[in-house]
Amino acid sequence: LDEGYEKTNKMFDEMLPTLAKGDDWLGDQFFQYQGFWLPSIFVKGSMLIHQRFKPRPTDIILSSSPKCGTTWLRALIFAIINRNSYDFDENHPLLKSNPRDLVPFLEGLIHEGGSASFLESLPSPRFLSSHLPFSLFPNSMTSSSSASACRFVYISRNPKDVFVSMWHFMNKLRAREGLPPLSLDDAFDLFRNGVSLYGPFWDHVLGFWKASLESPNKVLFLKYEDVKREPSVHVRKLAEFLDLPFSAEEENGGIVEKIVKLCSFENLSNLDVNKIVKEEKTRRHFVSNPDFFRKGQVGDWINHLTPEMVEVLDQITKEKFQGIGLKF
Ligand code: A3P
Repeated sequence: LDEGYEKTNKMFDEMLPTLAKGDDWLGDQFFQYQGFWLPSIFVKGSMLIHQRFKPRPTDIILSSSPKCGTTWLRALIFAIINRNSYDFDENHPLLKSNPRDLVPFLEGLIHEGGSASFLESLPSPRFLSSHLPFSLFPNSMTSSSSASACRFVYISRNPKDVFVSMWHFMNKLRAREGLPPLSLDDAFDLFRNGVSLYGPFWDHVLGFWKASLESPNKVLFLKYEDVKREPSVHVRKLAEFLDLPFSAEEENGGIVEKIVKLCSFENLSNLDVNKIVKEEKTRRHFVSNPDFFRKGQVGDWINHLTPEMVEVLDQITKEKFQGIGLKF
């Protein structure tokens, strides 16, 4: 361990006991850090990013609340950036690896001894992903006046679908750990009160929405529902935002459609690599590639939520988003 790690570890150890605690849906605790509910490991991750991550203006950070379509956007952006390096029909890395394994996860990777240097060693432009709220990144990454301000792509989603997706996902992890399922009611009480992974969900979305209004060339704000409805339009939008627009020749060759098809739910979820349950221990929990593919649809909440739940979530969403022009 070098000095930077030691200093952060000490600060972290002193601060953690002072933070409020909340149910993490998985039999353990979240900590409320600067307004957001995080597992302790990501509190430390955020601190380490401030302490030791060296941002570059060419960095691309895919940001999201969990269950908003992170896997999909990882695939789309990876395919766009690397479109000249691989054949789409065979040997494409997305046919052999889960998108998670192709995009380094910032607050997870910054921890282990050598990985800050791994992040350093990546060639530009680096494509990284993160679930941290906008306000938990250092100014060097977010301030438009910073010479190292990064580009952020944010994927958001209808809160009702996020909640349903999260509930299913957490219960898969609970089953694997031998825990009884968390009831929809109990999960709902936590979610509506903001106690969810990287929650409150609404505040997470708001941070990036405001940032995208202030710095549209640095923060691209997308909605799952929009990408689902018009994937090609959004693939072009992503490529332009990343300063990698498609040439006329590429357009004529049908590259946009190839990327959309490669990254579609139907294609990715049916690949062996994403179908086979191979349990890997990430920190405490067992996650497996198939956990990241469930239905991939808009509006599945209708099959799960009671009218009262719908009213509550719609009301919160209205209160939080209406004044600032955001709708789901
Ligand atoms: P559902 O549970 O509603 O099906 P994340 O990747 O942020 O964890 O989000 C997971 C959600 O995105 C799940 O939603 C999952 O099915 C969906 N998803 C995964 N891959 C997708 C893809 N290629 N296209 C559309 N949705 C996808």
